[in-house]
Amino acid sequence: MPRILVTGVSGLLGINFSQEMMDSHEIIGVDRGKLSRAPFKVLKRDILEAGTVDSILDSVQPEWLVNCAALADLDACEEDPDIAKRLNTDLPRHLARACKVRNIPFVHISTDAVFDGEKDGFYTEEDKPNPQSVYATTKFEGEWAVLTEDPKALVARVNFYGWSLGGRRSLAEFFHHNLTHNKSMSGFTDVVFCPMLVNDTARTLVKMLQRGLSGLYHLVGPQAMSKYQFGVEIARKFSLHENEISPKSILSSGLIARRSHNLWLSTHKLSTDLGEDLPDFSTGLNEFCTQFQQGYPQKIRSYQQN
Ligand SMILES: NC(=O)c1ccc[n+]([C@@H]2O[C@H](COP(=O)([O-])OP(=O)(O)OC[C@H]3O[C@@H](n4cnc5c(N)ncnc54)[C@H](OP(=O)(O)O)[C@@H]3O)[C@@H](O)[C@H]2O)c1
Repeated sequence: MPRILVTGVSGLLGINFSQEMMDSHEIIGVDRGKLSRAPFKVLKRDILEAGTVDSILDSVQPEWLVNCAALADLDACEEDPDIAKRLNTDLPRHLARACKVRNIPFVHISTDAVFDGEKDGFYTEEDKPNPQSVYATTKFEGEWAVLTEDPKALVARVNFYGWSLGGRRSLAEFFHHNLTHNKSMSGFTDVVFCPMLVNDTARTLVKMLQRGLSGLYHLVGPQAMSKYQFGVEIARKFSLHENEISPKSILSSGLIARRSHNLWLSTHKLSTDLGEDLPDFSTGLNEFCTQFQQGYPQKIRSYQQN
């Protein structure tokens, strides 16, 4: 079985990618100690410590490296720009360089948030990013660093939702948790994005690797919607009360980091190069609901230390 090294394995993407792939691939994850009972091998390391990247690559010798480690909390990035730069820019540069000398295909995960959202959407890979926050800037610089070190690396700009270890990492979990606890919440009507079920993101990433794709790709859901609409879709799918969600503008949110309004990304390049349509929103949402009914969130959470 091909061996995949997954950094950030305890994160929303890392855990779902590993869960999705562990039957067909040998997964070796890296985390700082959250996952002690995972059904795949996990190395407990601080990946920012000097020498860690090279020693892991030399001992694991993976066929592929998928970098899911990041500081992905936008407000935390504003509060600590130094750690944001180390994780989102310097680490990917180092990983790309280390993979290139070892001839290991490298996948780096970036974000739709590199765009300012001022265009009427449908951003392509040719459009010029204009990051609006520390998170977006450090991620954009990370993309650039990776592709400069190794133009054959694969960089995917993503946006996904799914079940996480902590239960609060994704927007879908936020809506689901509040709706099931009859708590009122707001949904932004003026932030448009293209959500994809994280398991679809994982499966598509592996297809991209198998087809030998390289360079920059948009890997988001093919359907754009506001965050408010997304909440309503979750409520309807789970037969919960959508009127608990109030439409609100992000301008009155009080969030620290500046968010872009329209992150509708074109996935034309990816669907053309894969020769197939990307998984649609309703199929992903059905799977998200089925996962809940079948105890998937509890299953992945049982991989953590008590
Ligand atoms: N969530 C989204 O919708 C979204 C949207 C756009 C782009 N992305 C991108 O997708 C990627 C994955 O995001 P995510 O939502 O899965 O992030 P996440 O849930 O915040 O996970 C980040 C991971 O990085 C690990 N990490 C951080 N510092 C580390 C260190 N010093 N040593 C070892 N591991 C460290 C974390 O480990 P600990 O558990 O130990 O902290 C965690 O496993 C990121 O590149 C992000 O920018 C995500």
